[in-house]
Amino acid sequence: MKYDKENRTFDCAPTLTDSQVLEFCRSGYVILEGVVPDEINLRAIEYLEGRLPANPSYIPEGMTTEDLERIRNATNSTLLLEDWFIEHALLNPQLTGVLRSLLGRHIGLPILVSHHRAQCPGPPQNWHQDHDCIFGPEVNFVEVFYYPQDTPVELGPTGIVPESHLRPQPWHAGDKGIATAAPAGSLIVHHQSILHRKGESTIEGVRHMLKYNYWRTVPPKRDWIIEPDFDFQTAYYGGHQLSRYIAHMFYWLSGKGDEFRLIGGQAWPHVHSRQIARSYGFEETEGYLPNWTQTWGYEYTD
Ligand SMILES: [Fe+2]
Repeated sequence: MKYDKENRTFDCAPTLTDSQVLEFCRSGYVILEGVVPDEINLRAIEYLEGRLPANPSYIPEGMTTEDLERIRNATNSTLLLEDWFIEHALLNPQLTGVLRSLLGRHIGLPILVSHHRAQCPGPPQNWHQDHDCIFGPEVNFVEVFYYPQDTPVELGPTGIVPESHLRPQPWHAGDKGIATAAPAGSLIVHHQSILHRKGESTIEGVRHMLKYNYWRTVPPKRDWIIEPDFDFQTAYYGGHQLSRYIAHMFYWLSGKGDEFRLIGGQAWPHVHSRQIARSYGFEETEGYLPNWTQTWGYEYTD
């Protein structure tokens, strides 16, 4: 792993395969359970609760220690300047391999932290897609939730809805949600447009959750772990109303976004386990792009 402190970027070997990158395009998330060491989780909680003095590795240009104090009091984004947090949380080895697979080389580190502190017990939030999210094939950044403490269902872990990052969603799509209950030190890597909410909590305590984004700095290309027998024509991209978006995203990530065309119906990227020959429509040069602004309607059935 190479960390470029001056540019706040890193580079390392990718760890996801073709199938796993496609799985991220399909589901919109990857969960890394308990990957941040306990000592760092405890230190993060001490920092978030104001018991650990700040020790920034440097003062960003144009800022003062008063600025950092103001930022710490508001969002705790100053955590991003602590050496121990950079080394073990931001540059966590399991995480960096996943990010390198999805965002290419020389990945930009987060610049802002959202600290979600919840006094429990408490009611759930409404399901929502965050402000400023977009829908399109590009994966120019990914978002991470970090749980510094054990976050069982009773402590209201964030709920997410698999496959909901591809289009604007109606409120009832939350029926498909899952709780990201996970042990301390877990990282939930996800597409920022995913439908989500703070879960209902039923026990006494304080839940901390940190949210931040990692950034692409290079054009996309298929430089993750190539599977020799991976076949773009027969790969499973998802069900009705979804496969075209997922395939477009996977093509964009592969550096082939410009080559993507649809002819519709049963044609590729629709692939069914019961068909008796390869799908028509693969590598068409004439055709259509998915309509990424189309909202869900009555057709939301599976
Ligand atoms: Fe949110």
